[in-house]
Amino acid sequence: MKKIIDKLYSENNLNESELLNLLNNVSNNEINYLHIKAIETLNKTYGKKIFLRGLIEFTNYCKNNCSYCGIRAGNKKCQRYRLSEKEILAICLEGYTLGYRTFVLQGGEDPYYSDTILTELIKEIKKQYPDCAVTLSIGERSPTSYKTLYNSGADRFLIREETRSKELYNKLHPNMSYENREFCLHELKRIGYQIGGGFMVGLPFQTNADYVKDLLFLKQLQPHMIGIGPFIPHKDTSLSKYPPGSIEMTCILLSILRLLLPEVLLPATTALGTLDPLGWEKGFYAGANVVMLNLSPPDAREKYSLYEGKANIPDDAIKYLSNIKSRIEKCGFTLDTSRGDHISLQ
Ligand code: 5AD
Repeated sequence: MKKIIDKLYSENNLNESELLNLLNNVSNNEINYLHIKAIETLNKTYGKKIFLRGLIEFTNYCKNNCSYCGIRAGNKKCQRYRLSEKEILAICLEGYTLGYRTFVLQGGEDPYYSDTILTELIKEIKKQYPDCAVTLSIGERSPTSYKTLYNSGADRFLIREETRSKELYNKLHPNMSYENREFCLHELKRIGYQIGGGFMVGLPFQTNADYVKDLLFLKQLQPHMIGIGPFIPHKDTSLSKYPPGSIEMTCILLSILRLLLPEVLLPATTALGTLDPLGWEKGFYAGANVVMLNLSPPDAREKYSLYEGKANIPDDAIKYLSNIKSRIEKCGFTLDTSRGDHISLQ
């Protein structure tokens, strides 16, 4: 197995059967070795920097019904909210003052936010904070809409493929299209966005062969960013009784992704940090180099409940940031508050 890891390290590639073999048979010692090789690779690209993003969850209305997600349309217990442009700009001001230079506007798929509304919002943020990147995470829209939002100043777009197993995708996403998910990612990249894909780990019925599909898909897509995190059950979903995904498997996959795509921006995700109090540290040691901190107001945070425990963060944004900074430094990394673009664009 060490030989396969060495090959992955030197060639930044493995074929389907090698990846499956690695996932099926990697031992504890070899997991450590895999993480060490991932860190060595990260040292050659981004070094010891961990990049910072500010997350603004601006709407929890969603027209979709993804069966793992707490804000799915069918969840009648979810209290819905939308933030106004004024509220969003106030959050940006607070974030900017603290040092944030990327704002991630994330929401459910909420048709209320037309291209006109979003265009105006993006233009205003870019006007007030021209040195900041605006990232959108608002799901599937038309190519025209993606193009309009890009032209209004949006820099990046996150849309996870969630899983590249077609069977599993269709099981978890009623009335959605596996093909359209992929189409959106390609379209966004063609338009010129820095794109972020990614998948969940430990979904009910998910297998190692499914992860191999995810890994090969991402290697081919070459996104600028990849977000992966463990599945966390939400009480108001049909998957509430299933166990959460494994932290260890998430970290193995993070390291493999770091080795397959040495230059990718790889967050230690909120789900990883929610499921395990040391989840982010484990992510950094596995090759992650981004943290996305929540800037949403406490009331919104509570309602933006994709999964259990997500809102459990301190209300004081200054203390929160300095706490994360010292956690990052304890791991031997530094917090970098620049825009943190992909290395090919710096
Ligand atoms: N557990 C873990 N991750 C989830 N997401 C949504 N619901 C859950 C859950 N229950 C992830 C999806 C989505 C991202 C914003 O959050 O991958 O793309």
